[in-house]
Amino acid sequence: MLAPCMPAIFLLSLLAAQSPAEAAKKLRVPLGLDAYMPIPEDNLLTPEKVSLGQRLFLDKRLSRDQSISCATCHEPDRAFTDAKAVAVGVFDRKGPRGTPTIVNRAYGKAFFWDGRIRTLEEQVLQPILAEKEMDITVEEVVARLKESDRDRREFQDVFGREINPVDLARALASYVRTILSGDSPYDRYINGDRNALSEQARRGLRIFRGKGNCTDCHLGPNLTDERFHNTGVAWRDGRFVDPGRYAVTQNERDRGKFKTPTLREIARTAPYMHDGSLARLEDVVKYYDRGGNRAPNLDSDLHPLNLKRDEKRALVVFLEALSGTIREGL
Ligand code: HEC
Ligand code: HEC
Repeated sequence: MLAPCMPAIFLLSLLAAQSPAEAAKKLRVPLGLDAYMPIPEDNLLTPEKVSLGQRLFLDKRLSRDQSISCATCHEPDRAFTDAKAVAVGVFDRKGPRGTPTIVNRAYGKAFFWDGRIRTLEEQVLQPILAEKEMDITVEEVVARLKESDRDRREFQDVFGREINPVDLARALASYVRTILSGDSPYDRYINGDRNALSEQARRGLRIFRGKGNCTDCHLGPNLTDERFHNTGVAWRDGRFVDPGRYAVTQNERDRGKFKTPTLREIARTAPYMHDGSLARLEDVVKYYDRGGNRAPNLDSDLHPLNLKRDEKRALVVFLEALSGTIREGL
């Protein structure tokens, strides 16, 4: 157990394998997250690469009509979400699903709500191609970037070669890896500061771990098992309106399953669920309290909880304590 006076930020020499200059810049992992962050050997983090990635994240040239950037949907001020039920891409095209937060995706094992992508490097090019998001080819984006002296120079400095799709992905993925949320009241409480959570929030935590069954799926430093569950959200009028994980595995039992999302920053990322169908945290708690929609193959961990009114309130107050400090960049 750590002492309450422990500083909120740990210094970590993750970059020891790199040159001394690079190693000197340490990646600071906020309190509560795993000190070990998996980083691919062929795409190590450097400050220059990360700031190039950050610039691209904000760059509207990555969309067909130059109207949106990654940050249009993943707004830094909204914990990297957009407050919309489903995402809206170029030409006001509505997508089928809501924009998830992208904090702590460095620890992710599968990407998107259905986990169809395996690495962040692959992931970051998908929204560029998606018709209902940025709707452009990666080659067109590369051609646009090549028109800029600054971009040609920075890619050359960071990667030692001409701008190309692989390095575009590497820069974006590197920036996304540095978007981290931790050091919340919950983390401080777990690390020994008994006063970091109010009595009501502590009661909510007991329900989260006990009567509520929430930690069956929302567990570990990032409050997710990174696995897929059918919690009945996509079950409407007697059918699944979104196949979820089934689209990836073609396994009938995966129909209606979605990846357990992190609960970090959850009070800031309404509306909730893959389709944005629940407006407030109170609605989410009510949904679980009634055991979810009665879908076929509903996860066996879902059943009516019979929470009392003040228990539901306490659970919401606990969820609010999962908002902490978001840091990005090196
Ligand atoms: C039009 C809105 C929109 C834009 C623009 C957009 N995203 Fe997303 N992003 C989404 C949505 C919606 C999802 C979830 C889609 C799904 O699961 O099918 C998502 C998912 C992700 C994920 C996976 C999160 C997880 O939990 O697995 C990452 C990482 C991500 N986006 C990064 C980016 C980057 C980098 C860019 C810019 C190149 C970008 N996004 C542009 C809406 C957007
Ligand atoms: C069986 C696994 C499981 C259990 C148990 C579970 N969850 Fe979830 N949770 C999920 C999955 C999967 C989703 C995404 C579902 C979807 O969008 O279709 C989710 C979504 C959420 C969301 C919305 C997240 C977002 O970004 O939109 C919140 C909040 C949440 N759960 C809180 C809880 C609480 C509180 C409990 C306990 C009362 C709980 N969960 C129990 C698996 C679970």
